[in-house]
Amino acid sequence: MGRARVLLVASEAVPLVKTGGLADVITALAAVLVEHGVDATILMPAYPAAVERASSLRQVGQLFDDLPGGSGRLLLGTLPGSPVSVLLLDTERFARRSGDPYVDEHGNEYEDNALAFGDLAEVAARICAGQTMVPAPHVVHANDWHAGLVPLLLRVRGITGVGSALTIHNLAFQGNVDMGLAGRLGVPADMLHADGVEFWGKLSFMKAGILCADRITAVSDTYAEEILTPRFGHGLDGLLGSRRDALLAIPNGVDTAVWNPARDTLTARPFSITDMAGKAACKRDLQRQFGLPVEPFAPLLALGSRMTHQKMADVALDALPRLLERHPRLQVVVLGRGDHGYESRFQQLAAEYPARFAVHVGYDEKLAHALHAGADMLLHGTRFEPFGLTPIYAMLYGTIPVASRVGGLCDTVADAGAADAPNESANGVLFDGDGADDMSAAVDRALALFAQTRHWQRLQRNAMQADFSWYGPARKYLRMYADIAPAGARALFEATLMPRASADDDSAATAGWKRA
Ligand code: ADP
Ligand code: GLC
Repeated sequence: MGRARVLLVASEAVPLVKTGGLADVITALAAVLVEHGVDATILMPAYPAAVERASSLRQVGQLFDDLPGGSGRLLLGTLPGSPVSVLLLDTERFARRSGDPYVDEHGNEYEDNALAFGDLAEVAARICAGQTMVPAPHVVHANDWHAGLVPLLLRVRGITGVGSALTIHNLAFQGNVDMGLAGRLGVPADMLHADGVEFWGKLSFMKAGILCADRITAVSDTYAEEILTPRFGHGLDGLLGSRRDALLAIPNGVDTAVWNPARDTLTARPFSITDMAGKAACKRDLQRQFGLPVEPFAPLLALGSRMTHQKMADVALDALPRLLERHPRLQVVVLGRGDHGYESRFQQLAAEYPARFAVHVGYDEKLAHALHAGADMLLHGTRFEPFGLTPIYAMLYGTIPVASRVGGLCDTVADAGAADAPNESANGVLFDGDGADDMSAAVDRALALFAQTRHWQRLQRNAMQADFSWYGPARKYLRMYADIAPAGARALFEATLMPRASADDDSAATAGWKRA
């Protein structure tokens, strides 16, 4: 019997290229699928950083001279230090993206995003059709708008031997492009209307995926419900509602080989729930790295995320000065990159509160580990959050999240309630709203808890003990792949579920997303 084959199409995968959680998820999912015996391959753009970092790259004989955006070739390699295969689509457009994959140095989207990602979809479709040197997969799994055209191309070309899934990691980014490009992108003219892929006068990659994929998944239970509402649906809630039978929630996991306080090689000292001495060392290290006074008992609040409106950078900028005034011992460290306006305002705050507030503008994986390990609490305000890996990384390191009650965070963070009598099973602090008052009141509550060692330690224990491994999510994906794979390949996917089969409820993932 052969192996079940899955092609994961995405724009990012750690450690090749990463701007956010998508990259973590793609690599961890591919790795856990391989562990289950699946032949999982990632197809992504050959950004210069990806070419530099991938191992054993070689051209797989395929040259294309008729892609939507021009010509290209396929390179095959592996992720460094991993058995996961990666196909890189090398085109001139992707080769030019040596900085951010989506925006130029001024923060403006590249003008040729449509054609660049049109090329990616086109090549994915050709692989699915068996027109390349690469074996066609049984299931193609498209991720976010970057791969949204893939299910559409399969449908319009009548490629029926491959099941298609679309995972929505973030509905706010939709890839809405000039409709005039439809012909070049392979989108037929009879789909250019509101019941097709037209979206406010544009051609929407995300809409194409939602319309045509055999299954659509959202990355948390709450987000799968939220995107059916106007508040979180970004204009696509109606269409998603009409596809509710194909929509299901598969929450992400966390790569515990990478995010594990006991084995983390990027932090100052290992620690675990039974030996927290290392956490104090990590706190000292973090204070030193940010140039703050090394004070073991000062509450240390961290922010680590994209500096954007989604992540409430504006709200944090208003709330933090108040908090620093109200709590004279509070220290704040910020790691992030994003909108230049926010970046400079954070830097300004650091200048106003020397020795209390420090910021590192940039993207730094090692510092992110130091931050999650060394801080006492992580402030994670966000207007919407499909899943939210960052607060979970923090929790695994005994760093208590102070987070918005939204999206995946509703499912992963359990609020402490009143600071003088916190809930037994709490692992964090949640807040509603996007005002500076809402955010600062939540931090006040976290600081009150921090002052009561017994309560705080219980929060830390709960946070560190939660199970966020990839095994549960992987089984749900495998169950879904089995459901959409061509009849002849279904058994291959079912076999991957066998060794670990138990009485748990895999069927929940396949039954379609049902609202309670
Ligand atoms: P999103 O994908 O919406 O940005 P997540 O919390 O799911 O949110 O994932 C964010 C990922 O990006 C995490 O792995 C986080 O550690 C990482 N990250 C964000 N900003 C930075 C930064 N400036 N430096 C290093 N890692 C960062
Ligand atoms: C997106 C979401 C984030 C999620 C990540 C991985 O970037 O904003 O909430 O954790 O994708 O699915």
